Amino acid sequence: MNETRRVFLKNALITVAALPLISSCRSTTLAVEPKPGILETLRKNAQPRGATAMGAIEAPDSVSWRTAFPITRDDGEPMIISGTVYKADGKTPAPNTLIYFYHTDKYGIYGRTGEPQHGRFRGWMLTDSKGRYEFSSIRPASYPNSTQSQHVHMTVTTLERREDWIDSILFEGDRFITERERGWSGKRGGFNPIITVTTGKDGIQRGVRDIQLMS
Ligand SMILES: [Fe+2]
Repeated sequence: MNETRRVFLKNALITVAALPLISSCRSTTLAVEPKPGILETLRKNAQPRGATAMGAIEAPDSVSWRTAFPITRDDGEPMIISGTVYKADGKTPAPNTLIYFYHTDKYGIYGRTGEPQHGRFRGWMLTDSKGRYEFSSIRPASYPNSTQSQHVHMTVTTLERREDWIDSILFEGDRFITERERGWSGKRGGFNPIITVTTGKDGIQRGVRDIQLMS
């Protein structure tokens, strides 16, 4: 069995196992990879609390390259996004890149009462030796009564650069994607962030968003 097949099956099992669980405000890391020296440096490069609405500073000690929200079927359409982070040359994988991400719930809402400002669908990943990351979540929605495209916010923090926003993930086929969004897509976080998702026989939407870091 090749690695891709193994990862696919593992993803399916993890997602199936995660669906019946009770919802929570925090994501669940799928493996414990304590990297105190690396995390310490990354946290120094994270934007300080309160200065901006970012989130790398809150990365848990157990951050892994994969994370999954403990969702139920009522939470929305299951979705798995994966990708590889590359250095500025667009070819060399960038391990130890801290990704913070968040998106709305299926109604287009972020933080409800008792939840963090960014809502319950927020998490962290630390790219592995191949630069890979992956998160299992649900498909976000447009803001209520808006024409805002569905999106997933992302920041990246590296050992060399401070935390910064990259282009949000958008979804090809979303009727609210504007020409302006198509025009600037991929400029801040290289590679096209407008991704195409496909739904598998298991009902899970999957998409790939690769990222090119700035030099
Ligand atoms: Fe947003």
